[in-house]
Amino acid sequence: MSERQGPGHGLSEHELSEIRMLIEERTGICFDESRERFFSTRVREHLRAKGLPHGTDLLRNMRKSNVEYEALLERLLTQETSFFRYPGVYEAFEKRVLPELHVKKFWKNPRTLRIWSAGCSTGEEPYSIAITIADSLSFADSWNVEILATDVGRQALKQAERGVYAGRSIGSVSEKQLANHFSAVEGGQQLKPRLRKMVSFAQMNLASPVYLGRMDAIFCMNVLIYFSEERRRTVVQRFYETLEPGGYLFLGHSESISKMPVKFQAIVLNDCILYRKPTAGELLKPELVTEGRA
Ligand SMILES: C[S@@+](CC[C@H](N)C(=O)[O-])C[C@H]1O[C@@H](n2cnc3c(N)ncnc32)[C@H](O)[C@@H]1O
Repeated sequence: MSERQGPGHGLSEHELSEIRMLIEERTGICFDESRERFFSTRVREHLRAKGLPHGTDLLRNMRKSNVEYEALLERLLTQETSFFRYPGVYEAFEKRVLPELHVKKFWKNPRTLRIWSAGCSTGEEPYSIAITIADSLSFADSWNVEILATDVGRQALKQAERGVYAGRSIGSVSEKQLANHFSAVEGGQQLKPRLRKMVSFAQMNLASPVYLGRMDAIFCMNVLIYFSEERRRTVVQRFYETLEPGGYLFLGHSESISKMPVKFQAIVLNDCILYRKPTAGELLKPELVTEGRA
């Protein structure tokens, strides 16, 4: 059998593998055997949509033009999300993290809270963070709340900026939250300006570090599962460096930082694990710090 007859018309195993490597190298996203079918189907769809006869044409275009590269990348992203996707996470944020930050920062001038939603998809996660802050942080309006929401996918970010949601996506938003924080518009419910002002969206690739300043908390949920072990390590190390001492990292339920050489304290609360960066004083008492444990 010739190589060209492999995975589909005009696309050889070798070309697929080159495309896979290019995506992994630039984004960290890894298409292993379990996602092989998804990957080759999406690449073939893309070839057809672009009217390109061969995988080599696609590869050439992607290497030459960022626009062409991003067009394929958009098809390969998994962007499933919803408001309050894991209620336990928002409960931990409300009951443990916000009260701690309140005590630590209330008398600071300016009274700023900085949170990063890394891999925010269409915005449900950063807006859930904003709603939790608005509903539970004492004197929420007296704080300067900055939620930075980043993703590599431009289409998702466009949707996020509009802040209009419907159906399953807002299934876990309570009646009270809907009434307080959303207005009915064509196509669904839109976040009110007060909440939208707390969140800034930016396109950012986690595989290309950019200095963002220190954060009080980082949410990176259901993103690292798609990365190779090595890339995960690099990104988690960067999260550690970005967090304020005493800051918190939230990962998805199936993600863990076990075996990673970072000195987070793993805190188990109900069905959720939070990772806290120790303060300098705590680092001097190693018995308080559980190294990279989940
Ligand atoms: C499954 S969604 C998770 C959304 C949200 N965090 C949640 O848990 O509901 C994964 C997101 O990670 C983004 N992503 C994947 N690789 C990325 C990278 N290298 N840099 C930034 N974002 C990335 C995808 O575009 C997608 O929106």
